[in-house]
Amino acid sequence: MPSTRTDPHQLTALIVGASRGLGHAMAAEFVDRGWNVVGTVRDTTARTPLHALADHADGHVTIEHLDINDPDQLPPLHERLAQRRLDVLFVNAGTTNNEQSPIGAVATADFIDVMVTNALSPMRVIEALEDLVSPTGLIGAMSSGQGSITNNTTGGREVYRGSKAALNMLMRSFAARQGETQRAFVLMAPGWIRTALGGPDAPFTIEESVPLLVDVLLSKLCTPGLAYLDRFGETVPW
Ligand SMILES: NC(=O)c1ccc[n+]([C@@H]2O[C@H](COP(=O)([O-])OP(=O)(O)OC[C@H]3O[C@@H](n4cnc5c(N)ncnc54)[C@H](OP(=O)(O)O)[C@@H]3O)[C@@H](O)[C@H]2O)c1
Repeated sequence: MPSTRTDPHQLTALIVGASRGLGHAMAAEFVDRGWNVVGTVRDTTARTPLHALADHADGHVTIEHLDINDPDQLPPLHERLAQRRLDVLFVNAGTTNNEQSPIGAVATADFIDVMVTNALSPMRVIEALEDLVSPTGLIGAMSSGQGSITNNTTGGREVYRGSKAALNMLMRSFAARQGETQRAFVLMAPGWIRTALGGPDAPFTIEESVPLLVDVLLSKLCTPGLAYLDRFGETVPW
């Protein structure tokens, strides 16, 4: 469990893509629970909700910069974080093209943008930073229920679905390569939540969803193996 804020061994979460939306809310939730948070934003000039959180977090929020689609930024980030021990590394950053076109009508550039941002780049971040994670820590990524192949009975949002299914497969490959590790690996399906990405019609709020999501992550700390979970901790069919 999290220790006190004055404890030098206080737990630390790195949340990649914490400028706004679910990532920012996760950062706030971890801080509320006594954790240190390193949150990344990609814009080096803009002030974001994470900056406002850091202003009132008594030194418990550190802001780093990372565009996950720029692999050249990963070695310097690793160097800046080299003295940190991470208990949680969670890649939240993601995108959608919000299109309803069948896959044959999707522009190649849209396909590449969504697939790279949602599948390749999160795994590049994880591969680049995983050695900073404690031997019993947790490595996670924000997937989606839409990444479930089993549950896809309707089609629609096909590039987004494909990108999250690809993320799931790539994380499964990464976890399989870890051998006898005590680490937990989590692919999170948060539910459909009202954010810029989720849109105004989403049935759930950030406030009601994110505490549940963080509960699930914390419940998996020190539980070796890979899980694809919803915000209630139930396994999502792959
Ligand atoms: N909301 C939902 O209903 C829902 C459902 C299932 C899964 N998800 C997943 O949850 C995650 C967060 O989504 P959200 O709803 O909170 O969306 P959001 O409000 O649009 O936030 C997206 C976040 O990802 C960051 N990001 C996007 N591309 C990036 C890049 N190339 N490099 C670094 N950061 C980047 C954004 O940073 P900037 O501020 O710089 O743009 C922002 O912090 C995504 O992976 C999404 O697929 C959301």
